[in-house]
Amino acid sequence: MKSATRVWVLAALVFVTMGDWASNGRAAETSSELLLRDDEIARIIRHGPWPPPRRVDASNRVSGNMSAAELGELLFFDPRLSANRQIACSTCHDPKLGWTDGKARAGGLERLDRNTQSLFNVSGNRWFGLDGRNDTLWAHSIGPMLDSREMGATPDLVAKILREDQILNELYQTAFGVSANDRDPLDLLVDAAKSLAAFQETITTGRTSFDIFRDALEREDYKAANDYPESAQRGAALFVGRGRCNLCHIGARFTNDEFDDAGVPYFTGPGGVDPGRFEGIRQLRASPYNLLGRHNDSPENASGWATAQVAQTHRTFGQFKVPSLRQLVQTAPYMHDGSLKTLQEVVDHYSNIDLDRIHSDATPLLAPLNLTEQERADLVEFLKSLSTPVEAD
Ligand code: HEC
Ligand code: HEC
Repeated sequence: MKSATRVWVLAALVFVTMGDWASNGRAAETSSELLLRDDEIARIIRHGPWPPPRRVDASNRVSGNMSAAELGELLFFDPRLSANRQIACSTCHDPKLGWTDGKARAGGLERLDRNTQSLFNVSGNRWFGLDGRNDTLWAHSIGPMLDSREMGATPDLVAKILREDQILNELYQTAFGVSANDRDPLDLLVDAAKSLAAFQETITTGRTSFDIFRDALEREDYKAANDYPESAQRGAALFVGRGRCNLCHIGARFTNDEFDDAGVPYFTGPGGVDPGRFEGIRQLRASPYNLLGRHNDSPENASGWATAQVAQTHRTFGQFKVPSLRQLVQTAPYMHDGSLKTLQEVVDHYSNIDLDRIHSDATPLLAPLNLTEQERADLVEFLKSLSTPVEAD
């Protein structure tokens, strides 16, 4: 216990209910205490509920469509969509590795400068890519197919596969209501990406021990809440308290859906830097596939308002996506360059953060936390509780 103002909620409950045991009827069977203050509880409750309501992407007319998801799943694992016929989306986004590749930096036809993002709960994002260079999941799915360093395909190649493979051709007809043979290659490329998006919408994570804890707090069922390990409780208090992690990692997905600078070096090699969000904004605005373009299936419901607003200000240089913190136990290594191998290393990074490394000119929200060994272990325990247990194969 760090301060006398902390309420031992459960202990208090025991004392209060002692007096009117019969009328209250809530017998506290354990004497262990919940280590949280009311304001901490209120802040923890903001990280839920989970799962979030299913979201339909209005800009994608096959969002939520089962045939499209089935087509998308086949395409996702299909290496024929690459120039050398060896690279599929799943080469880098492997479901067995938490939809990543387990490497620090990805490699397709060539090596990339960035870590492969996981696709868990991806449809909840507002921006896509570590630099937010796309405003929809389907638009982001076009990039890797065409990128010469990733799959190196062309619209003609994608169109040929959709037309000539009988199974894909039939699924396309069912999902889109027209024959692939009557569509031109560019439209087929976009439709393939919209199917890939319909599939990726199904990649979600289940309820975690944190979610059970959080819901118990909301119901004021402190006895159930106390099943959550004490170390994780202390970690949660640190996360929403002195650690100020929730300034950026907020809400049920533990992200504000924006970009920031967490003090990770942005050098990609000798003389090279990754401009992050700065370059992402330029690409977003120039993309023919953004929400302001003709491929948006419902401009009235998915307006692209935010896309029209973003500006390439200097402070966006070296900023990267604030990632969701769900299911991290499967997605190491961490950060945009994969430079931190374990959650322990990430917590150490925040504990000893080097402010000279914050390159954005905004006032940094971060400062070295100088955590004790116990506090670091607690924070790691808390971060792990945001994942569901991983089944062994
Ligand atoms: C060569 C490895 C590689 C291949 C192949 C690949 N990706 Fe990725 N993917 C990445 C990397 C690296 C990132 C991080 C993106 C960035 O900012 O550059 C990423 C990011 C993403 C994201 C953004 C996730 C988010 O939360 O913003 C999506 C969606 C995605 N990929 C889908 C796909 C799809 C669909 C395919 C196949 C058409 C694919 N990827 C093929 C490496 C790959
Ligand atoms: C100022 C906003 C901000 C604050 C405050 C913040 N983070 Fe982050 N966090 C980020 C950004 C941005 C990244 C990605 C950085 C990068 O890729 O270079 C990140 C990355 C992470 C990652 C890696 C996730 C992954 O998939 O790679 C973890 C874990 C994490 N933060 C935990 C924390 C914890 C714990 C705290 C509190 C001690 C915290 N963050 C405070 C912005 C923030």
